[in-house]
Amino acid sequence: MPDSIITKKTSIASANWLALLPKVELHLHLEGSLEPQMLFDLAIRNQVKLPYQNVDEVKKAFQFTQLQDFLDIYYQAAQVLVTEQDFYDLTWAYLLKCKEQNVCHVEPFFDPQTHTDRGIAFSTVINGIDRALQDGVEKLNITSELIMCFLRHLSEEEAFSTLTLATAHLDKIKAVGLDSSECGHPPEKFSRVFAKARELGLLTVAHAGEEGPAEYIWTAINDLRVSRVDHGVNAISDPKLIDYLAKTRMPLTVCPLSNTKLKVFDDMSDHNILALLALGVCVTVNSDDPSYFGGYMTENFEALADSLHLNQSQARKLVENSITASFCSEQRKYELLTILTQYV
Ligand code: ADE
Ligand code: ZN
Repeated sequence: MPDSIITKKTSIASANWLALLPKVELHLHLEGSLEPQMLFDLAIRNQVKLPYQNVDEVKKAFQFTQLQDFLDIYYQAAQVLVTEQDFYDLTWAYLLKCKEQNVCHVEPFFDPQTHTDRGIAFSTVINGIDRALQDGVEKLNITSELIMCFLRHLSEEEAFSTLTLATAHLDKIKAVGLDSSECGHPPEKFSRVFAKARELGLLTVAHAGEEGPAEYIWTAINDLRVSRVDHGVNAISDPKLIDYLAKTRMPLTVCPLSNTKLKVFDDMSDHNILALLALGVCVTVNSDDPSYFGGYMTENFEALADSLHLNQSQARKLVENSITASFCSEQRKYELLTILTQYV
């Protein structure tokens, strides 16, 4: 028997254990869940020309050496999303995948500027997403909170305009976030927009320390007053920051498959998520852009089992962290913790 099979058996009891484990996802870009087949279906539906002839060609294009390689393809693909029904279908397909993988609560991101900059109305985007999320609660028993991200490569002024568009839809949005090209666009570029968002009653999160330095994690915390840091794996270079994260239990929404696909780590065996967990940091597992990075929640956990010998108690702690770090009500957190306890 090969070593990898023996290791897997001792770390996680059965192949199905991770698939059935009740899970919570806190870092998922809806536009990053656009599967190649849906990309083609929507391109035909909306008569959008694609630079690919078939699904195989699309999959071949998904080879990245850094974040920007991925973002260029991701923004181009998002152009097939045009109508409210498209945004509904995208979100609904993600929720069906969650149901299949026993993901019980989700807090997805959407990037309105990717769409409004092409002339799509803000309401078209958010109404389609929101309708699917409502159906997710009613038909699939998957609860959710929606996070609106600003694109950090665009200006502060454009972020303010987006926040203004969002004010008519605050009942549908729980928090604002910050994503796109990290290096050269530090969190503090958006301090004033985030302050305004907080005044409006929104919570805040931000991508920081994915490709960017640990300093960006400090400014996300101190200037943007985030409740969670998205990625944050580069915190490891700053012992004072690690100490701070552990003491305050500031959550990091870590995305293992994303980090290896985008070469933040050369190999999954180099990933620091379990080292951070051992240091007392509130790390969580997430899929980021699953259709681009080779897997949804279960595949991310499986990658940790395969390469880092994740065991059941670590898997349980990672899910527990996601529940406590989530933006859902205390009542829903209690329900989720009960579901998790009953399973393990
Ligand atoms: N937008 C979608 N995925 C992203 C990532 N991993 N980092 C920054 N921006 C993103
Ligand atoms: Zn992300």
